[in-house]
Amino acid sequence: MNLQNATALITGGSSGIGRSIAQILTEAGTRVAITGRDERRLAETAQALKALPIRVDVTNEADVVRTYREVLQAFGHLDILVNNAGFGVFKKLVDMDRASFDAVFATNVTGAMLMGREAAKHFIERHRGNIVNICSTASLRGAPNGTAYYASKFALRGMTECWRAELRQYNVRVFLINPSEVLTNFGAAAGHPQKQNPTKLRSEEIALMVKAVLEMDDRGFTPELTIFATNPKD
Ligand SMILES: NC(=O)c1ccc[n+]([C@@H]2O[C@H](COP(=O)([O-])OP(=O)(O)OC[C@H]3O[C@@H](n4cnc5c(N)ncnc54)[C@H](OP(=O)(O)O)[C@@H]3O)[C@@H](O)[C@H]2O)c1
Repeated sequence: MNLQNATALITGGSSGIGRSIAQILTEAGTRVAITGRDERRLAETAQALKALPIRVDVTNEADVVRTYREVLQAFGHLDILVNNAGFGVFKKLVDMDRASFDAVFATNVTGAMLMGREAAKHFIERHRGNIVNICSTASLRGAPNGTAYYASKFALRGMTECWRAELRQYNVRVFLINPSEVLTNFGAAAGHPQKQNPTKLRSEEIALMVKAVLEMDDRGFTPELTIFATNPKD
């Protein structure tokens, strides 16, 4: 697809990977809307990138429906949804509390489903569209302390395959992107600040790959892309 004059909605576009995707798409000439809950961070990012800020909690169904009203009002149509909003809780199974488990699933799975559902209605009507789900290498195999986060990403991966099977007949391309560790606020938000080693992936590298898969002509698509650091040191 041609990104020039295209339109995109990026959930969690106020920080980290989502922000870098918003930046690279804006630079390519795409009109971009970003969502987040923290108003100040959202406004700052939107101003810096000249993006449309929409304050939204993706777990709130009414917020999600309002997001599409605002995007369509501002842009007229939508070409790309990037389902990126997400966070992690990392605890041993024996320490896992119900509230944390539910919260991770509410954002990473239910939020992505609600956003995807509203995008799909629009894309089916237009017989075109793109959904990029920012998943994780956590969707590929389990690990200690991964009960909530890894399971949520396995679920996102499963939903992605279902959406692809349903939506391909409408020319809708559904992509899955699996970054391994990337230096963002993600670790700090989970209570495990990341060590800032330059051998680790940066958000910009993930954004470049998202841009690359979108730019392929609409007759083709890359179903899934996994991105590792070459030789990461902690
Ligand atoms: N960093 C990594 O190592 C890594 C690796 C693989 C995959 N990922 C995935 O990449 C995605 C982005 O993470 P990141 O590393 O860029 O983390 P980040 O810097 O913490 O950014 C997360 C973004 O999601 C938003 N967000 C979180 N919960 C939300 C909710 N309920 N509703 C709306 N927005 C919400 C945050 O804004 P507010 O808090 O203001 O709402 C923020 O903009 C996540 O899905 C994560 O699982 C990250």
